[in-house]
Amino acid sequence: MGLNLKGRSYLKIADFSQRELVFLLDLARDLKRAKYARAEQQALVGKNICLIFEKTSTRTRCAFEVAAHDQGAHVTYLDPAGSQIGHKESMKDTARVLGRMFDAIEYRGSAQDLVQELSDYAGVPVYNGLTDDWHPTQMLADMQTMLEHAQKPRGQISYAYVGDARNNMGNSLLMLGAIMGCDVRIIAPKELQNESHIVEMAQARAAQTGARITITDDINAVDGVDFIHTDVWVSMGEPAEVWESRIKQLSPYQVNSALIAKANNPNVKFMHCLPAFHNTETKVGADIFEKFGVSELEVTEEVFESDYNIAFEQAENRMHTIKAILVATLGA
Ligand code: CP
Ligand code: NVA
Repeated sequence: MGLNLKGRSYLKIADFSQRELVFLLDLARDLKRAKYARAEQQALVGKNICLIFEKTSTRTRCAFEVAAHDQGAHVTYLDPAGSQIGHKESMKDTARVLGRMFDAIEYRGSAQDLVQELSDYAGVPVYNGLTDDWHPTQMLADMQTMLEHAQKPRGQISYAYVGDARNNMGNSLLMLGAIMGCDVRIIAPKELQNESHIVEMAQARAAQTGARITITDDINAVDGVDFIHTDVWVSMGEPAEVWESRIKQLSPYQVNSALIAKANNPNVKFMHCLPAFHNTETKVGADIFEKFGVSELEVTEEVFESDYNIAFEQAENRMHTIKAILVATLGA
């Protein structure tokens, strides 16, 4: 039977086979080329998509909006304060209302259970735009960007994720490598490594795909990788009080020129889902500098502003890959 993702929700990448993710990546590549060639065909004319953001966003919201508009669909944006969800109306009730008006729903929030409940009751495809546990739309963009740069089969790609590995990005990048058959190295202090049930899920997939998984607190494990990923040290929804301990725990894991040198690969690239704290030009960055005297957090200004950094290509690819999800699950 052929591949058919029509009607499917996209809640976490673990719900998908390698073949299905490769299908989405191939479609994203085709859609990207069609847009650059000004030859894009609209598959979503007349569709309505609801975008619910209970946490802030730049890339994910804009990627959904531009992808939908390019394809002829309309979007309705519900901001973190502007709906009844949670305080006056349960997710189960919200799902049954929105499912009657929209063809698909994107949801960004905290608990994975909530996006699951939305999908269980909406009766239309639901896309996870980030929860505390997973960031599945980001993973297609990360893989597309690595494939565009690595010029080798995906099973030969090696990458490290350095930083807070228990967050949505640490979990998702571990699972991405496991499903796609990569050499994936999670490098974090022991207390910030992925929870054991996530590691078990990843190991089970790796056993099928031939992925090589390393989880270590040793930064020397970046040796030979093609890509070094990192993410913020404190994620959305975490209390500001954890900054002090995170800075202590994660400063040895900062992506700086010494860490880049440890990769021993002149072609190594730096990746980050963004936003990134690499100077004091943000409110949070300035506050952290005032409180703790550090001006660069998970990545230094030097690395961020260097040719190693491909995070802006990664950001663009959010749009092409989200478009692929919309077309595949919702297309005519
Ligand atoms: N990478 C990412 O999800 O960015 P936003 O928070 O801006 O959507
Ligand atoms: N781990 C980050 C990712 C932001 C895109 C957060 O959840 O805030």
